[in-house]
Amino acid sequence: MEIVASGIRPTGNLHLGNYFGALQNFVKMQEENHCFFFIADYHSLTTHPTPGDLHGNVKNVLAEFLASGLDPEKATIYVQSDLPETAELYLLLNMNAYIGELERCTSFKEKIRTQPQNVNAGLLTYPTLMAADIIIHKANKVPVGKDQEQHLEMTRTFVNRFNRIYKVDYFPEPVAYNFGETLIKIPGLDGSLKMSKSANEVSAIFLADSPDVIRKKVMRAVTDSGPVDPNKPRSQGVENLFSLLSYFSDPQTNTHFNESYLAGTIRYGDLKKQLAEDIIRFTAPFREKIIALTSDNEYLKKVAALGAEKARVSARKTVREVREIIGFKSF
Ligand code: TYM
Repeated sequence: MEIVASGIRPTGNLHLGNYFGALQNFVKMQEENHCFFFIADYHSLTTHPTPGDLHGNVKNVLAEFLASGLDPEKATIYVQSDLPETAELYLLLNMNAYIGELERCTSFKEKIRTQPQNVNAGLLTYPTLMAADIIIHKANKVPVGKDQEQHLEMTRTFVNRFNRIYKVDYFPEPVAYNFGETLIKIPGLDGSLKMSKSANEVSAIFLADSPDVIRKKVMRAVTDSGPVDPNKPRSQGVENLFSLLSYFSDPQTNTHFNESYLAGTIRYGDLKKQLAEDIIRFTAPFREKIIALTSDNEYLKKVAALGAEKARVSARKTVREVREIIGFKSF
């Protein structure tokens, strides 16, 4: 049985990118593996140091995890900050993480650009905290979207370094986990390459969005003035719509719009209308469950308590063993 671990930051509701990148196959995954799925609330402070309603955000993501089909009996679902052992392992990993490699990380460079007023140490060491999340359970598989590839590569570097420095074969090398051939990147409706909750409100469609909101967002998606030369690459906005169509619409619909694009007869408005309805059909079951679960405080409390208790078993064991390996001893 493989050990799987993954997390999502509670900085907003879950969008289609989060779902396809990290959650899509979780229903099957939790049947076949020992899965840990957590809400990365420590991580969220790297971009949102004074969140208006941290607990409310955590609660929403927990409800969305459950609505996506995660089963608290089968998988271990927990809140990152309920497991302070993670913070200790993060501290220990930081001793062997080098400034140069952390500064070279693409997501760090990106954050320097997008939040120059808050380039904090948490951002720099984001990859070591993420590594701690994964290896605290000695996970070897990590379901994530394409944007997390480099962080996983860094986790492997930290793992190999730990094993080498302390002359042990203790931590396994985790790899990205997705049932498809390659890792997924769902594009944004604003013409950006990645659907993202932080970019801006019009980039993302959330699992909890109402049909009206979805229609409005899709109809406003960025396109161009129409196909100029079908042999030239499509503009990014149009490419994104076709990419979304391939996820949410049936093969005939895809063929139809691809053919009418090539024939130069396509009307983007028709494509958008169809795409919006197909996304609404896809999200409807999630939305209903999210609404019901978000108001069930007692149940969410139970799920979080059970998850923390289960996660603590492997976390305590790992931290105890790591302390021994490094040489900490109690008197
Ligand atoms: P976050 O909240 O930014 O993203 C959560 C997950 O959603 C995926 N994702 C996407 N996948 C495809 N297309 C998109 N447009 C898209 N946008 C987001 C991300 O790849 C991710 O899988 N650093 C993590 C949180 C984390 C974590 C971990 C993950 C903390 N510790 C340990 C795995 C293991 C993150 O990016 O969160």
